[in-house]
Amino acid sequence: MLIPSRASGFHLPSSEITPKDVYEGRRDLLRLMAGGAAGAALASWAGRSALAQTLPPRPGKQAPLQAARSAVPGAVSLEKPTSYLDATSYNNFYEFGTDKADPARNAHTLKTSPWTVEVEGLVRKPGKYGLDDLLKLGAQEERIYRLRCVEGWSMVIPWVGYSLAELIRRVEPQGSAKYVEFVTLADKATMPYVGSRVLDWPYTEGLRLDEAMHPLTLLAFGMYGEMLPPQNGAPVRLVVPWKYGFKSAKSIVKIRFVEKEPSTAWNKAARQEYGFYSNVNPEVDHPRWSQATERRIGEDGLFAKKRKTLMFNGYEAQVGQLYTGMDLKKFY
Ligand code: MTE
Repeated sequence: MLIPSRASGFHLPSSEITPKDVYEGRRDLLRLMAGGAAGAALASWAGRSALAQTLPPRPGKQAPLQAARSAVPGAVSLEKPTSYLDATSYNNFYEFGTDKADPARNAHTLKTSPWTVEVEGLVRKPGKYGLDDLLKLGAQEERIYRLRCVEGWSMVIPWVGYSLAELIRRVEPQGSAKYVEFVTLADKATMPYVGSRVLDWPYTEGLRLDEAMHPLTLLAFGMYGEMLPPQNGAPVRLVVPWKYGFKSAKSIVKIRFVEKEPSTAWNKAARQEYGFYSNVNPEVDHPRWSQATERRIGEDGLFAKKRKTLMFNGYEAQVGQLYTGMDLKKFY
């Protein structure tokens, strides 16, 4: 449970959180930056050094949001987490631009307070939740998930949040509710690309109700022990680790329970390329490229090997049964 603290507003008694060394890379960099040596540290970033040097030193110290390690099966990867700097400077958040560096440059305009998430549609208990109430609805946990983007790169991130199922149970879906639609903020005043023709705004996503109820589906408020930075989808986003990253909607303002499969932003933009299911499946190529391998962000460089992409992004044991009997080439 969340306990208010003087310093941050939120503090959780942490029993077992990510060990300090996980964040070491980030701290070293901050130290170098403080000493004016950021350029040297970033030089090793081959292709991205130019980008990193144009960024503000870091998104700003976010309020700490600690949590106990999750006990949900499969929720904690033993892989080395991606560095904080990589995870916060190589992003997709089209409301702030289409270049990977744009969200870190532009998303500081996102206004995350006050923030309300409206739960509506086929539920017995619809309602509006202020962020503080939403934060307290479930026990915050740390989960180290892989996020695999449809573009062929991946990261490993210690997220903080709780299973979306906790919220869903509370609002009591009606029998007719079969899908959950996620609607994200579309505010022209603070999001420079909303209004552009890149996507049909607002960015929306959807899950089948049983996918949304799966314990691995995370409503995330933080990462690396802190509140989410704007470019990663502050103040609340979804993380669905067995699906391509675009399913993980950022800056959510509405959660709607519906009977029919909702259309999604990427499905509307390119139906042949982005189906509703979007499960990570190395056997189904994207029409324009293979999905068999991936590049782990932070492992780039001339000799960096690509990794083999795993079925359901490595979460097959946990989620495979959701798709029993389905032709996953048809339902891509
Ligand atoms: N959510 C919104 N609102 N807008 C977006 O453009 N991009 C998606 C997803 N969520 C996106 C979004 C895509 S394509 C990916 S790969 C992930 O966010 C990237 O998350 P990250 O930048 O935190 O790694």
